[in-house]
Amino acid sequence: MEKLSLRGFEIYKDLLDFEAQQVLLTAMREVAKGAPMFSPMTPYGKPMRVKMTSAGKYGWVSDRSGYRYSETHPEGMVWPDIPNEALDIWHRVSGSRQMPDSCLMNFYGENARMGMHQDRDERDFSHPVVSVSLGDDGLFRIGHMERGGSTESIWLSSGDVVVMGGDARLTYHGVDKIRFQSSRLLPKGGRLNLTMRIVS
Ligand code: SIN
Ligand code: MN
Repeated sequence: MEKLSLRGFEIYKDLLDFEAQQVLLTAMREVAKGAPMFSPMTPYGKPMRVKMTSAGKYGWVSDRSGYRYSETHPEGMVWPDIPNEALDIWHRVSGSRQMPDSCLMNFYGENARMGMHQDRDERDFSHPVVSVSLGDDGLFRIGHMERGGSTESIWLSSGDVVVMGGDARLTYHGVDKIRFQSSRLLPKGGRLNLTMRIVS
């Protein structure tokens, strides 16, 4: 494990070994059984390129009325509990004594990406966002607290964990592309990213 800091984001390379990645993946597959992955619509009526689902009290949904946290899946069920394997990671790196109440799981297929954005829909920005990468490598881009300006990028690999907190909590970030089938964790390829948060 190696810990880096990039523009205030703390990056733990290889925090999870392959076995820990497999155990977490199995737990997240159970989450997706209870709350199936879906392709959200953007408020502009275009389907997003990532597929997602959530665990915890609050999940992230998007439809024509906008992006928001919701206590229910679009099909109506409550979200499954956040697996202990994910909570353990939060406890190791977040510096927070409170538990996260949301764990969003995004799946990036071969051509998926995520545009530059801030995570700013939570009530209290003194709590960090903890992001866990599983599967294929993703090129993660970090900007500034305001949109635009220079950026720096880093490849995130399976088992890497990023803490977006402190003064960097509202820093713009995104994922430009993935290296399809660069990891053997997901046999069919693709990248899973978990983000844990205290929403409310
Ligand atoms: C996000 O910012 O929501 C996802 C970051 C990632 O996929 O690494
Ligand atoms: Mn984000």
